[in-house]
Amino acid sequence: MDTDKIIKELSQNEKKVLLALKKLHGKGSPEDIFETGEFHQDVEVANASSWLQSKKLVTVENHLRTVYSLGKEGKRFVEKGLPERRALKLLAEAKGSIPLKNLSTVLESDEIPVAIGWLKTNGWVTLKKEKETTIEITSKGKNAISDVTEDEKLLRLLHEHPEQEIEKNTIKPLASRKNVIKEKDLITSSIILTDVGKKVVDIGFEIQEEISQVTSAIIKNNEWKQKTIRPYDIHAFAPAMYGGKAHPLVILISEIRQIFVEMGFQEIQGDYVESCFWNMDVLFIPQDHPAREMQDTFYCKVPSTLSIPEQPLVQEVARVHENGGATGSTGWGSVFSKTEGERALLRTHTTVNTIRYLYHHPKPPCKVFSLERVFRNEDIDTTHLPEFYQIEGIIYEENANFRQLIGILKEFYRRMGFEKIRFRPGYFPYTEPSMEVEVFWNGKWMELGGSGIFRPEVTEPIGVKTPVLAWGLGLERLAMLRYDLTDIRSLYLSDLDWLRKTPLLK
Ligand code: PHE
Repeated sequence: MDTDKIIKELSQNEKKVLLALKKLHGKGSPEDIFETGEFHQDVEVANASSWLQSKKLVTVENHLRTVYSLGKEGKRFVEKGLPERRALKLLAEAKGSIPLKNLSTVLESDEIPVAIGWLKTNGWVTLKKEKETTIEITSKGKNAISDVTEDEKLLRLLHEHPEQEIEKNTIKPLASRKNVIKEKDLITSSIILTDVGKKVVDIGFEIQEEISQVTSAIIKNNEWKQKTIRPYDIHAFAPAMYGGKAHPLVILISEIRQIFVEMGFQEIQGDYVESCFWNMDVLFIPQDHPAREMQDTFYCKVPSTLSIPEQPLVQEVARVHENGGATGSTGWGSVFSKTEGERALLRTHTTVNTIRYLYHHPKPPCKVFSLERVFRNEDIDTTHLPEFYQIEGIIYEENANFRQLIGILKEFYRRMGFEKIRFRPGYFPYTEPSMEVEVFWNGKWMELGGSGIFRPEVTEPIGVKTPVLAWGLGLERLAMLRYDLTDIRSLYLSDLDWLRKTPLLK
């Protein structure tokens, strides 16, 4: 053991604690050390002691102490006296004998049995049953008149000095009365010099001002030349620090946002709660489409309906649904219900964001995207969640075409770092042609989302004449690829180990 090195690495406060302990013959409470060592703050003692403990120069012993204070009834007794004391006083004044019922002049009715019990236990009185019961003082009782009982002494003590440590048997009788005594457990500690600690103290050291943290001022004013600088203990224990960081999904979202912005898109936002009209009708999804069923869509109870735009939009949409309107299509051939359109739901896709934007900004050119959450009444499994994010976007400009759509999506995934992408023909009621995007992962192709060119049945009623390229892609599935997850649920488990390990950026 290198005591020289140990001494060299002692901080001022550690030295002060050691010297205080020497004065206290090797053992003391933090309070003793605080006083003896002339510290300024409790934390200085606590910190220095725990450093000394980790350096094995002291040990810390904790003891449990039970302390007592007065309860509600106890405080009352201090004021008015114990019931038996009040009864005894009455007896003394009445020359030693009174009818039992007279006790009610000095005692509450619930105190009378208590008083009689203790009077008898103490041997202060005897009860005589004649015509009426009387109590008579005994010689022991007479002696007690000028005496103070143990219980009374305790009451006084606890009144003047609450939180007293008292021997269990001593407090027992008083504590057996209801609400008289309150008990509390306190932990106190003793700090004790170890053998090494003693050796260090015996060798001795000086407490001189030293530098424990070098600042620019100390360097500039040359203070460092005069004073000693305390060496760092690089082996000292320190708790692991985890700085706050963004959740992997949040990181991914901002990466995607960055990519779309770099590709010349603007971000748009929408609301969770939408009407069927905007979420489905405007997109030419037939009102009897299976996806509208309760088991696929979350409908809202409050509000259960939302007002939808008045004429001419509703009328235009209705006409397209019923007979195709002026689009050349035959429509769905069923009667359009405005009431159905007014039902409130949690949006099932963010295509509702882009279609509404189109309606309000029908003039091309335009490129917008949204990165928001959608809801589907789906069973949860390794690749499905009832709430998830969609990467939604549209481009509409003169001569926008299908090849351009493929190019944009390829480019997006390429920038995300995924080269192995394929497109398959797909079907959506609102696009023609339609395609699905898939990525090769874990030995098979996984679906990432849908895309296509909006049908005239969608664009005509909202007054858009230019081709609109549209897509809606899953974000969590992309996160699975990025973070190499086999279960999509991992993203929402708050598994700190995983979150700490997950790199901040790709
Ligand atoms: N809305 C579709 C979905 O949620 C995706 C999509 C968006 C398809 C735009 C075509 C055009 O799966």
